[in-house]
Amino acid sequence: MMSPFTIAIDGPAAAGKGTISKAVAAHFDLAHLDTGLLYRAVGARMLQGEDPIAAAQTLAAGDLENPDLRTADVAQAASKVAVIPEVRASLLDFQRAFARRSGGAVLDGRDIGTVICPQAEVKLFVTASPEVRATRRLAELSDNGFKTDFETVLADVKARDDRDMNRADAPLRPAEDAVIIDTSDLDVEAAIAAAVAAVDARRRA
Ligand code: CDP
Repeated sequence: MMSPFTIAIDGPAAAGKGTISKAVAAHFDLAHLDTGLLYRAVGARMLQGEDPIAAAQTLAAGDLENPDLRTADVAQAASKVAVIPEVRASLLDFQRAFARRSGGAVLDGRDIGTVICPQAEVKLFVTASPEVRATRRLAELSDNGFKTDFETVLADVKARDDRDMNRADAPLRPAEDAVIIDTSDLDVEAAIAAAVAAVDARRRA
């Protein structure tokens, strides 16, 4: 594949972006960055009492190794720090540099196709109904030993969607030229196949 080649994958909480992004990156032999981890790492440091802007400015590789990044509390904190323009600005250069690395890259997040990489060669917007997304997130949390219930997870997902879609800076929305993939009725294999097919179609175009 020609380099650099950027694939932007955006969508709401627990839509399956992570699984699809990893599989697409492996299929096309590209590096992958889960940009949500950057916001989660800043959120985790805020929960430890740090100022989120200072945390974003001093974010280090080790912050991404924090085993607590996948918890529900950190997810909510991430979407709170993500509304702060200075936090987003601090994380911008790292994401853009990653996107243009030689060999190409897949980035997944909320604003990759709209703000971080508006020139991305391929943009996907992966979505699913809130109920399907909450069901998947509940299974994921349970697998990882977190005790919670469907109503709590659904409320968390909706609260985060609301914050992500309605913030002033880089709100969650599909880029105009994004391919929308609704995974509500797709299993993992079918969702990956749809994403790979969409990338192939764009590359041929
Ligand atoms: O995995 P999940 O979809 O639940 O969330 P995530 O991708 O890890 O993102 C966590 C939070 O970070 C989101 O709810 C957003 O508020 C924020 N985020 C963002 O604002 N911009 C991005 N590019 C990625 C994440």
